[in-house]
Amino acid sequence: MGVAIRGTGSILPEKILTNQDLEQMVDTTDEWIRQRTGMKERHIAEKDTVASLAAAACKRALESAGKSAEDTELIIVATCTTEMLLPCAACRVQKLIGAANAIAFDINAACGGFLFALNTAHHYIASGACRNALVVGAEVLSEIIDWTDRSTCVLFGDGAGAVYVEETISGERSGIIGMSQGSSGMNGQMLYCRGRNVKGATEPEINSSDLLVHMSGSDVYRFAVRQVPICITKALDSAGIGTEDVDVYVLHQANRRIIESIAKTLKTDIDKFPMNIERTGNTSSASIPILLDELHRAGRIQKGQRVVLSGFGAGMTYGACVVVW
Ligand code: COA
Repeated sequence: MGVAIRGTGSILPEKILTNQDLEQMVDTTDEWIRQRTGMKERHIAEKDTVASLAAAACKRALESAGKSAEDTELIIVATCTTEMLLPCAACRVQKLIGAANAIAFDINAACGGFLFALNTAHHYIASGACRNALVVGAEVLSEIIDWTDRSTCVLFGDGAGAVYVEETISGERSGIIGMSQGSSGMNGQMLYCRGRNVKGATEPEINSSDLLVHMSGSDVYRFAVRQVPICITKALDSAGIGTEDVDVYVLHQANRRIIESIAKTLKTDIDKFPMNIERTGNTSSASIPILLDELHRAGRIQKGQRVVLSGFGAGMTYGACVVVW
């Protein structure tokens, strides 16, 4: 059974935090942030939560697909910043949008999470376990950022994006045609947040810094520029096409220089790598579906085009997906 993306939706919280605002908070400059990352501003949730942002993105994706919440059979929310441990964000989304007939659960693969969720939904539908799904990436990263650490706090933003996927009809050409994903737990120390004092943790006491994100930026950078092109090439191989057959690459918006390096390694024109990082910062699992929605609504992605989605994140995790729109 084939699986196609029928609709997209996204939301960014209202409050905008600019590089100039950050200059007032930590020892940084607008110039440094723009040159090293490509970011100018990011959105920060004030009242919104992971569940409320995810629900808003889902409503927009349903509207864009012309589908109803009641008929939705599966909701997967990729998030690493859900405000409640129980119930999961997907079950709260189910309640908020009124999708009473759906199976709902979360996936945490950090910034790689949306691709892991999409892959899971693909397998559910391809196996016949269900016919459609809402796949969401939603984050309120501002809750776990150390706002005194200039090497991380300038990078991240909040938001949510969703796609509605559905089984294809016989003879249809649209759909997911290739996938690849992987995890590298051996590199887990590159980017982590302990989050809470769990039983069995090596440190007896948790201090407030353990509740925040820690990152070795240069290690993450090197991991991404090496691993993502390999992963994209594997996904293209599984689809039986080459880089020259791809119309648009929708990559995780972590750093403009990372995306430029990936384009160079793939020997592909940077124009095929649209970005919104300037306005959004890194929204983790939400970044790919947010950008996808913006491109879809702007008409930059057209029916029949071949689109590659790819990202990486804490874990380390990475994934790529090839879609015929
Ligand atoms: N403003 C000004 N200076 C800063 C700064 C900031 N916001 N953050 C770090 N610096 C300083 C560092 O302290 C360092 O100073 P030093 O040379 O005196 O020690 C200098 O800038 C260079 O730091 P470095 O880490 O080598 O810079 P970089 O070119 O690697 O850029 C990142 C840093 C974080 C932007 C980059 O490594 C990156 O984007 N990595 C990937 C991160 C990522 O994608 N994370 C999410 C994964 S999903």
